[in-house]
Amino acid sequence: MTTKQFLLSTFFLLMAGWSTANAEDGSRLWLRLDNVSNPTTITGVKGTAMTELQTYWQGSPVVLKRQKGLAKDGYTIKSQGDKIVIAAANDAGLLYGAYHLLRLQQTGNTTTSLDISEKPFYDLRILNHWDNPDGTCERGFAGKSIFLNPNPERLKMYARANASVGINGTVLNNVNAKPEALSTASLEKAKSIADQLRPYGIRVYLSINFASPIKVGGLPTADPLDKKVVGWWKEKVNEIYKLIPDFGGFLVKANSEGEPGPQDFGRTHADGANMLAGVLKPHKGIVMWRAFVYAPQSPDRANQAYLEFMPLDGQFADNVIIQIKNGPVDFQPREPYSPLFTAMQKTQMMVEFQLTQEYLGAANHLVYLAPMWQEFFSFVKPSSLRAMAGVANIGDDINWCGHHFAQANWYAFGRAAWNPALTPKEIADEWLAQTFTDNPSFVSTVSQLMLDSREAAVSYMMPLGIHHIFAGVHHYGPEPWYSPKGLRADWTPPYYHKADAVGLGFNRTLTGSANVKQYPEALCQLYNDINTCPENLLTWFHHVPWNHKMKSGRTFWDELCHKYDDGVHETRRFLAMWDAMQSYVDAQRFSEVQRKLRIQTRDSEWWRDACLLYFQTFSHRPIPQDVEHPVHNLDEMMNFRIPISMYENPQCGYNK
Ligand code: GCU
Repeated sequence: MTTKQFLLSTFFLLMAGWSTANAEDGSRLWLRLDNVSNPTTITGVKGTAMTELQTYWQGSPVVLKRQKGLAKDGYTIKSQGDKIVIAAANDAGLLYGAYHLLRLQQTGNTTTSLDISEKPFYDLRILNHWDNPDGTCERGFAGKSIFLNPNPERLKMYARANASVGINGTVLNNVNAKPEALSTASLEKAKSIADQLRPYGIRVYLSINFASPIKVGGLPTADPLDKKVVGWWKEKVNEIYKLIPDFGGFLVKANSEGEPGPQDFGRTHADGANMLAGVLKPHKGIVMWRAFVYAPQSPDRANQAYLEFMPLDGQFADNVIIQIKNGPVDFQPREPYSPLFTAMQKTQMMVEFQLTQEYLGAANHLVYLAPMWQEFFSFVKPSSLRAMAGVANIGDDINWCGHHFAQANWYAFGRAAWNPALTPKEIADEWLAQTFTDNPSFVSTVSQLMLDSREAAVSYMMPLGIHHIFAGVHHYGPEPWYSPKGLRADWTPPYYHKADAVGLGFNRTLTGSANVKQYPEALCQLYNDINTCPENLLTWFHHVPWNHKMKSGRTFWDELCHKYDDGVHETRRFLAMWDAMQSYVDAQRFSEVQRKLRIQTRDSEWWRDACLLYFQTFSHRPIPQDVEHPVHNLDEMMNFRIPISMYENPQCGYNK
């Protein structure tokens, strides 16, 4: 479009019955906007902004205006006479402004005179899909990959949903990247997806397999300092940019969990990352190099990333960002932050959160993750990071995420990457108002349920700093005893909980693995002392004696029993809260969420019973009288396994 300003006329809602005529299957996500007209799509990102407003905006005429001096992707929205003016420095800013206006409409906030000014906190707000070429999604609980046979309508909805919350990048394939991700056929597919996402301001990225020069290129080595290897990458990258001129860059999992990497050739992470960065640089591409590394022989897995990356601080090229999981182990219900975030001073870093609930009840449990991210940001200054990545929870299920409330985590990720200062409550409130109803009683009740859900999950799964006690392979449900013969120790729960006759927990103090030393001095001291260590991380840092006196006055064992039981009571409370919301929610989504909350409640009993009865075999202490006693038998739970892979959502948990 060459016109600098575009005037949109006022529309009236003529088809009020449209939304109720549609099945309430969650497919519309939070974009439950009523059509007011059906304009022909105008091309380009600004065209998308116009089309979205023409299709859905019901208020005063809107002017879209390019204006110098505003931040990239930022915008202002101002009421001027009988018009609304959205101004932005680039077209993506106009699109984000348009979605902001539509959000105000959906949440019933358009009555006042508008004077809004916004800009994104992070330039790069990116989803990581763990999707495989065969259509499976690693740790995916919402069906198959949406990129397997991309349906244009579905892809458009995906793009709209992302753009509506400011997500501007997506990595199309699994970090455990198959070499064929770089085959010409895969690249052509990536091009087609990129073409469909581009009008929504979304760039595509790819995960790469570091051994691709060998496996795809037929070279004898993938040594990053070998000239032929560099030449191969150059050609490959040129091929990509010919197809996708705005290609974003590579995400790399190297020398981690069996994936190839520069260390296979005696080189460092910096050698590997910088070689790729050099090849991408002329095209303005970036490398996101993951720090998720650990070795079977390491006495403390939590120490490993720091040990490998700290010596390289300052050695990475300026288009490399080190992508670090929020915690030092692996997306557990609660972890301290990864100490690399405060240790590395001369390296660009980004955080990787996991939206797909690998360790949080998959698509069966309602766990709202924004409070976890807020906790992370209370330790790691948002300004110390360059970007935010989220491991997507999206699949081809009709409701996208498997659980209607898992959509909130996708939504919250975008909003938090745009503005990490937004509170979890603000985000939950606006998501609920758009997704269900803006009725104040509904929003306040259900937003409280969401806000309490993460702490509840911690309580019924892994309270007081316990971690990594989930089932093997698929990771659903409790298996603190899981320890098959021959499996590397750091893939088994006993490596982490270390339960014995004395107590429970991993000694990471100065008398143990000294992991505390990786934190700044004040935190090191705080965590090192069992009497000052926050109780919610107690067994993370200490081997806590069963009779240790807790702040409540109870022994550690009694406290543990209470925590697990509190978690169960919380899930029952959530179910009752939801049941009371029936009159506000359509029948389909009400009953689908209710079914899931029932699974969650039964699962919380399973977690409590399995963990307490198993740990009791070490503590030899009675379960306190004022705690509900287990209703399942340990031997039966120990013989139970859900026969699913790591690509599926279980129908339900232990269901005896
Ligand atoms: C976890 C997860 C794997 C994944 C890995 C990663 O270990 O279970 O499926 O590949 O994280 O983040 O690389």
